Amino acid sequence: MSAEEKPTSAWSIIKPAPSDPILGVNAEYNKDTDPNKVNLSIGAYKDDKGNPYTLKCVEKAVEKYAKDKVNHEYLPIGGSPEFKMHALNLAYKSDFKYMNRIAAIQSLSGSGALRIGFRFLSQFYPFSKKIYLPKPTWGNHIAIAKGANLEIGEYRYYDPKTLDVDYEGLIQDLEKLDDRSMVLFHACAHNPTGVDLNHEQWQKVLEIVKKKKIMPFFDMAYQGFATGDVEEDAYSLRLFANEGLDLVLAQSFSKNMGLYGERIGCLSVLTQSEEQKHDVVTNLERIARSEYSNPPKFGAMIVNYVLGDKELKKEWDEEITMMGTRIKDMRELLKKKLIETGSKRNWDSITKQKGMFSYTGFSPEQCDRLKNEFHIYCIRNGRISIPGLNPGNVEYVAKAFHEITKDEK
Ligand code: LMR
Repeated sequence: MSAEEKPTSAWSIIKPAPSDPILGVNAEYNKDTDPNKVNLSIGAYKDDKGNPYTLKCVEKAVEKYAKDKVNHEYLPIGGSPEFKMHALNLAYKSDFKYMNRIAAIQSLSGSGALRIGFRFLSQFYPFSKKIYLPKPTWGNHIAIAKGANLEIGEYRYYDPKTLDVDYEGLIQDLEKLDDRSMVLFHACAHNPTGVDLNHEQWQKVLEIVKKKKIMPFFDMAYQGFATGDVEEDAYSLRLFANEGLDLVLAQSFSKNMGLYGERIGCLSVLTQSEEQKHDVVTNLERIARSEYSNPPKFGAMIVNYVLGDKELKKEWDEEITMMGTRIKDMRELLKKKLIETGSKRNWDSITKQKGMFSYTGFSPEQCDRLKNEFHIYCIRNGRISIPGLNPGNVEYVAKAFHEITKDEK
């Protein structure tokens, strides 16, 4: 090497990646030292003091786990068989008539289920390489689908004028799809909008899916968070599954069991026979092996202890109701406080929307003002995470919301 030649690093061409629209905001919040800061960014349940909440049934399960001195051997590639049984019973119902036709693997929570599911479809779905996502959807759906080499399409889902489902737009767009298209549906508690289809509307969507032989991919990250009832929240999935259609489901226990950091979920594929189930599951496992070898054990064991024990399962149901009630109370309190500030804006959507999120219609600039002037962190698409509210900060938040909206045209 001559004296003029400088050694160049292979990495010198790399520009920093943009920060994540959700986790990046959460990280900014963590760095903020303002005593009044409020985190309305990430979809993670907090208690009424703003602290992370560990479910009591989970605490008890962890104690049992410690007592039982569970070994640290690998799980099989497909994960814990007992866990898969519990996950499928929870989603499809234990007496589901086609249970023996479901191919399933334990996944790294909902995102991991999407990753393996999308990779599976990208490799094996013979009719299309494009998946249609609701507009808007959770931002990571797009990144994960692209990362699995799927093309992205959109169907209308939300009407910013009514702050509700754009049902007509949705039906028109589904009707226009090619036969055998792949379509992702949020099973309940749509992220980010918080608006869901009603039973009658799901029925109509099912008719289109059947007519056009669409491949439905359900993402059910919030079972229990839409209505407070895990059975009711599985309505859309079960409506379709009971028809015996081919379908795919991604499940997560991050939210409903508060196991965010344990990365525990399930991917399942409903097939037409036990032979197909076998063929599909072996390929799901092959993909999983090439991605991460086999899944982590702790989260699966905790779910097994909770759902495998009548008492703990009962406590879990009660805690889901408790979390749902606190969220509902916060929605009502926020709306009340907003009215008390003298705001003339229509805030009805806050109490109409379901699940963890409310889609406020705030512009990115309004969200920036919330952060810069008030240390309130939300997603720049206008999504706020309701569990970040508590009796101690809701008035402060309401005043800030009024401040940034009072001059809206
Ligand atoms: C969210 O939407 O806030 C959560 O699903 C967390 C995440 O990973 O984005």
